[in-house]
Amino acid sequence: MVSAVLILFLNFLCHASVAGRTCPQPEDIPFAEVVPFKTFYLTGEQIVYSCKPGYVSRGGMRRFTCPLSGVWPINTLKCTPRVCPFAGLLENGAVRYTTFEYPNTVNFSCNPGFYLNGTNSAKCTEEGKWSPELPVCAPISCSPPPIPKFATLSIYKPTAGNNSLYRDTAVFECLPHHAMFGNGTVTCTAYGNWTALPECREIKCPFPSRPDNGFVNYPAKQALLYKDKATYGCHDTYTLDGPEEIECTKLGNWSAQPSCKASCKLSVKKATVLYQGERVKLQEQFKNGMLHGDKVSFFCKNKEKKCSYTEEAQCIDGTIEIPKCFKEHSSLAFWKTDASDVKPC
Ligand SMILES: *[C@@H]1O[C@H](CO)[C@@H](O)[C@H](O)[C@H]1NC(C)=O
Ligand SMILES: *[C@@H]1O[C@H](CO)[C@@H](O)[C@H](O)[C@H]1NC(C)=O
Ligand SMILES: *[C@@H]1O[C@H](CO)[C@@H](O)[C@H](O)[C@H]1NC(C)=O
Ligand SMILES: *[C@@H]1O[C@H](CO)[C@@H](O)[C@H](O)[C@H]1NC(C)=O
Ligand SMILES: *[C@@H]1O[C@H](CO)[C@@H](O)[C@H](O)[C@H]1NC(C)=O
Ligand SMILES: *[C@@H]1O[C@H](CO)[C@@H](O)[C@H](O)[C@H]1NC(C)=O
Repeated sequence: MVSAVLILFLNFLCHASVAGRTCPQPEDIPFAEVVPFKTFYLTGEQIVYSCKPGYVSRGGMRRFTCPLSGVWPINTLKCTPRVCPFAGLLENGAVRYTTFEYPNTVNFSCNPGFYLNGTNSAKCTEEGKWSPELPVCAPISCSPPPIPKFATLSIYKPTAGNNSLYRDTAVFECLPHHAMFGNGTVTCTAYGNWTALPECREIKCPFPSRPDNGFVNYPAKQALLYKDKATYGCHDTYTLDGPEEIECTKLGNWSAQPSCKASCKLSVKKATVLYQGERVKLQEQFKNGMLHGDKVSFFCKNKEKKCSYTEEAQCIDGTIEIPKCFKEHSSLAFWKTDASDVKPC
């Protein structure tokens, strides 16, 4: 009986002592974690403090046992971020950063003419390494440009081994009788390719037709091609309207369509006129008629003011309109003064 009471009593004592001596939730240390983590620990229970991934402490981890006193020992653990290797310099480029510590990111960019071989940012990892690896700025280059059909490279100088650098140019020419469409000068771009290549096409022009009252000469070939030429001429008394020589254009037609225009026969027998700024005798200057396009100015009288003025007339394909104000005097009417001898108005 007594022993039973004693056991109960001892049992109570034991409980009381254990219940009174527990340790509280352990202190929170920045960037550290506790295992196991609970709200209270019994005397003799163990905990381990260690730094979270990406952080380190000088002494490594700390192990503590809940003492009879119920008070955790002083914890001097200090976790600091891991530091990645220096990454503040990028040749031919720039780096933007705050620190090189976990978990920061640094940003990279390259100077013009260089491209980033790698990524434009890297993160300092838990292991204290850059991920992905740090990039480099490499010069932008273009491999030799492909040569379009019917073209030749007329100017090309590789500046980086067999390649060209950013902004270098190359110039194409088309084979004879081929016309270029697009820009013959290509430039090495920031993407390492060339700007759009030109196209060279064979161009044919129709045979030019003979003008009325004239003739046309062109090469005796099966076909007339880009830049081929044809020359025009007119029969007697006809004048060419347009250039003597025409060229087959890249559009497949001729640069012009010359024609032959008739000369003008003069209905006026005698007159003093202005021709190219000079006073000339119409009957002498234009013995064989006026040519298409010729222009003269006739003198007319202003009766009221007793003065003279001029009016222009032009020979257009066989026709000239003599100004109405012009009066031709009979050679017998010698007392009349010709308008060209009257003072100008
Ligand atoms: C890096 O670039 C990112 C995205 O543009 C930006 O949010 C970040 O602030 C930059 N970091 C630095 C250090 O400049
Ligand atoms: C880019 O960098 C990687 C690693 O440094 C290298 O192997 C590769 O040849 C580079 N590429 C170019 C196009 O420079
Ligand atoms: C240039 O190209 C030639 C022929 O393909 C090759 O033999 C040579 O090694 C190249 N040079 C360089 C610097 O790449
Ligand atoms: C052709 O391209 C070059 C640069 O690539 C430019 O300077 C030039 O003006 C261009 N020519 C024409 C006719 O567009
Ligand atoms: C060059 O490459 C860029 C980027 O890949 C592309 O957008 C562009 O169309 C290319 N230019 C030519 C002329 O192919
Ligand atoms: C040549 O043809 C083009 C397009 O068909 C036209 O615009 C141009 O005026 C023509 N040129 C001549 C001189 O006829």
